[in-house]
Amino acid sequence: MALLVELSGEQLELASQEAWAAASTLSGGEVEVLFVDHPALVLDAPEVQGRDLALRLGLAHHVSDQAITGPLEVAAELAGSIDIGDAGSFRVRVRKTTSSIEGNDTKLLEANAGTIIQERTGVRVDLEGPDVEVRVMLAQRAHSGLLGGSVDRKAFEARAVRHRPFSQPVSIHPKFARAMVNLARVPLGGVILDPFCGTGGMLMEAAMLGYLPWGTDYDPRMVEGSLENLSSMGLEARLDVADVADAIDARDLRPDAIVTDPPYGRSTSVHGSDPEGVLEKMYSMAADALPKRGRLVVCLPSKKMLPSERGPFKLESIDSIRVHRSLTRHICVLIN
Ligand SMILES: C[S@@+](CC[C@H](N)C(=O)[O-])C[C@H]1O[C@@H](n2cnc3c(N)ncnc32)[C@H](O)[C@@H]1O
Repeated sequence: MALLVELSGEQLELASQEAWAAASTLSGGEVEVLFVDHPALVLDAPEVQGRDLALRLGLAHHVSDQAITGPLEVAAELAGSIDIGDAGSFRVRVRKTTSSIEGNDTKLLEANAGTIIQERTGVRVDLEGPDVEVRVMLAQRAHSGLLGGSVDRKAFEARAVRHRPFSQPVSIHPKFARAMVNLARVPLGGVILDPFCGTGGMLMEAAMLGYLPWGTDYDPRMVEGSLENLSSMGLEARLDVADVADAIDARDLRPDAIVTDPPYGRSTSVHGSDPEGVLEKMYSMAADALPKRGRLVVCLPSKKMLPSERGPFKLESIDSIRVHRSLTRHICVLIN
């Protein structure tokens, strides 16, 4: 069955990549993209439930099962054909996106689709607390499906660094940290290393996805702070004090992927130079630590900070995010 992912608007390319990567991880193989019609993404992922995918994503709103796509003119009929199973009540919700044609009355469409389903099934409409919800997205085309799960956006906000017991002004937003962990495409239960763990933002998201998070940082206060933050959420991680160069030395563990947000500012110039060689040390450690085809997902302030093309890493993808008006970061996925 196909899945309809309603991407969040802020970073559509990255959001698509994240949803595809997470669905591929859940299915155990690469899933096919059937339609990209931003902010709708339709994936052919027969083994994946919408509810399970929604639980993993940072940059989406909803995921629906039974995805079906057609021209805008037949949106009501598409929604009307969704199988609501043995639900005792239902509602139809229409989301109209900016790129959809003008003049689509969403309330009328909800009513028309609802009438079709009601006439076909005899099941009653309940707008307040239905058993199931039929979703319709109007973009260049119309997409419909049965709501499987919704992303808890408020929970991501609640984990933002300013709300953590140990806080430093260095952590990227949890929804981007989540997307980065998903881009690593580690099989469930694998080990994810962040060698610049700071306040533990990556580790939290990795733990919540069922990975073994492993954080190292050369600053013992950060390692203690990460522990405090994770404990406050009932999460666990393996934590060590170590310079990035020594992150994996003499340890009993090996990471399946490295997901990290290296230091920048005073110690790492945004003009491409790296006075302390921190990034060079990270690339060299990652090349030793990662298995063949293991991924290094790294957030960089400048594309000039990517490793040399002659090295072991191949660039798989790069997406730029605007942290705020004057600050851009590049989320790079490198494969060993
Ligand atoms: C941008 S912050 C990481 C933020 C982190 N993602 C979070 O959620 O808070 C960079 C971290 O790198 C650490 N660091 C800087 N140089 C390092 C080095 N050579 N080896 C290990 N850690 C280092 C700093 O102590 C800092 O905690």
